Amino acid sequence: MTLQPVNDNPHKDNPPGIALLQEIARLIQISQLYDDNNKSIIDAVHEFKQAIQASCAQSRDVALHIVNGRFFIQEEKLPLFRKNAKLFNHMLQFFEKRSIYGFHFDADLEAVTTNEILSFVRFLNLSDKYDNPAEWLKTELKKNDIKWLVVIQDSTSMFHADSQESEFKRSEALVRKRETAKKAYHYSLNSVKEVAEKLHAGKETSIRKSVRMVQRMVDIIAEDEAAFFSLSTIRMYDDYTFIHSLNVALLAMSLGKQIGIERKMLAKLGLCGLFHDLGKIEIPKNILNKKGKLNDLEFSEIKKHSINSALMILKLKTDKYRKVHLFVSPFEHHIRYDYSGYPSVNRKHPISLFGRILTIVDVYDAITSPRIYRSTTMSPDKALGLMLADSGKHFDPVLLKVFVNMLGVYPAGTLLIMDTGEMGLVQHCSEKSGSTRPNVQLLIQNTKNQFTKGKLIDLADRNPKTGKFIRNIIKTQHPAKFGIQPAKFLL
Ligand SMILES: [Fe+2]
Ligand SMILES: [Fe+2]
Repeated sequence: MTLQPVNDNPHKDNPPGIALLQEIARLIQISQLYDDNNKSIIDAVHEFKQAIQASCAQSRDVALHIVNGRFFIQEEKLPLFRKNAKLFNHMLQFFEKRSIYGFHFDADLEAVTTNEILSFVRFLNLSDKYDNPAEWLKTELKKNDIKWLVVIQDSTSMFHADSQESEFKRSEALVRKRETAKKAYHYSLNSVKEVAEKLHAGKETSIRKSVRMVQRMVDIIAEDEAAFFSLSTIRMYDDYTFIHSLNVALLAMSLGKQIGIERKMLAKLGLCGLFHDLGKIEIPKNILNKKGKLNDLEFSEIKKHSINSALMILKLKTDKYRKVHLFVSPFEHHIRYDYSGYPSVNRKHPISLFGRILTIVDVYDAITSPRIYRSTTMSPDKALGLMLADSGKHFDPVLLKVFVNMLGVYPAGTLLIMDTGEMGLVQHCSEKSGSTRPNVQLLIQNTKNQFTKGKLIDLADRNPKTGKFIRNIIKTQHPAKFGIQPAKFLL
């Protein structure tokens, strides 16, 4: 039976676990002020029952645990926001004082009386007066036949072992997923290379392998978006054009997913990304890799590549309907939103959605990638800043905004220097919603200036005692400056 709320739900903005913690705190407080028949008490008991029900996630009981100074509900760590830091600290101290590490509550408290719930809360309150508060509380609960909860006395209890086990299982599954993603990345790279080389040699070229690979990538993006982003941090100096093509495909598909493009079309967008620079294979290497400024003649050679990409796509051995979908956006990817790019086209002709997506992800990948002819590259956050200056000019402003939000303030692969003196690579944005504080793979530098993997930390973590963030970002650096290849640490 579903409990009806007494008032409007006061916790509608809070995750159920936090609401439960708030309700326990409220009960503890008001049980000392009022007697059992008081309306505030009855309401508080009702809200507590509701909070238990909301937290059970269809399970028969609700597990509230404290491990390493953090609260867990049903094995999920409760997010620590500024607004709940005070509550967390207060409750941690309350339980610490009593050597209690949590409870298992029955999920259905419908038949439990207000009296029984208040007895539990009052015993809990009183328990710190005794030598062994948890033991005393357990005895009192037993004596009073209170059976709808179990007290957890030990932080290294079964939950801890379970949690470590499930954490282990989770990380194992993650490693497996990331291995699959890595494989898909390399297969895709080979597939686009093969297509380009065959086209260059004037051979008949099927794109079956590439089609299969983008479909695989659509599956990966649906499962593990973080791994997908990290893939685009694979940067090598060799085969720049192909790696760039693959990154453009990955980023375009991610952006496409953000704006709700469905799977079939995402795969098409991925193919457009893979093939957008096919025309570059016709450009002499000395121009493509030239250090320093290109002269007019050389630049006009470069400018031919988007038209050539479209022409090469039309030569592919695949059905003509697919080709129609594939050639437009590669043709458009340098035109720019305000038509200031190349080739020059009639302004009345609107640039396709895929074309506008490719324009954004193409520039982002190009300016953040290391290149043979360029010793310095831009860090991801600086690149986004630069691109925002051209919002509405080179780039579709709405799509650019989604792209910036998607990558976060600190995109995957950004090297952070923190106020603790530590250094780390952004892995992905924190799951703590609304947070601009990412998860960071710490790096340890040895005496030979080589780096190894350190801990994986969450920048949103706070010191439970002071409520302050444990680490803060001082500045960002480009990984290449330290000879760091992000993919080596993030995948
Ligand atoms: Fe291009
Ligand atoms: Fe490109």
